[in-house]
Amino acid sequence: MNKRKIGVLASGRGSNLQAIMDNIANGTLDLEIAVVVSDKPDAKALERAQNANIPTVVVDRKACSDKIDFETKIDSALKEHNAEVVVLAGFMRLLSGFFVEKWQHKIINIHPALLPSFPGLDAQGQAIEYGVKFSGCTVHFVDEGTDSGPIILQKVVPVFDNDTEETLSARILEEEHKAMSEALKLWSLDKLGVEGRKVILK
Ligand code: GRF
Repeated sequence: MNKRKIGVLASGRGSNLQAIMDNIANGTLDLEIAVVVSDKPDAKALERAQNANIPTVVVDRKACSDKIDFETKIDSALKEHNAEVVVLAGFMRLLSGFFVEKWQHKIINIHPALLPSFPGLDAQGQAIEYGVKFSGCTVHFVDEGTDSGPIILQKVVPVFDNDTEETLSARILEEEHKAMSEALKLWSLDKLGVEGRKVILK
């Protein structure tokens, strides 16, 4: 049987991409990464994909006339490679309604905080600053807002008095790597339904 195909958008280090690749390689995830798209030509994520013979595409924002052009090119790359869902694994650009509408309930993001707390940039720093005792990560479908779409799953980690942004980020990242693969497994088994704001397990 043909495996279900995902497209991954990544801007940087790509450790979440690597976790997905590892879980495909060890048989935990039964799907295929059809393409990795990056807005950064030097993203480590691209190197990781190339090492695993996964097709890569760079869409440089600076080379695009505007945001619509940028997002149209990303959309085309995903469609050319037959991606059924878009996974944002450290993709550092906000997607506009133009793109989100095309992929409604088909864009999955990972955020390093327990949403709706601490959306946007530097979520781990925001958590430390606020003084919360627990934080974690959230995997969610993307809507037109910032980190505001229906939540698929969350994982919790403690925040210790002596935590720095670095130590908390590392603790959360470990959970991110598990969380995204768990969400993708549910998706690949067609278990995710969306009812209004809620994700329901079918
Ligand atoms: C992760 O913390 C993710 O939650 C956030 O950006 C970071 C990306 O890390 N959106 P990596 O590129 O997957 O290593």
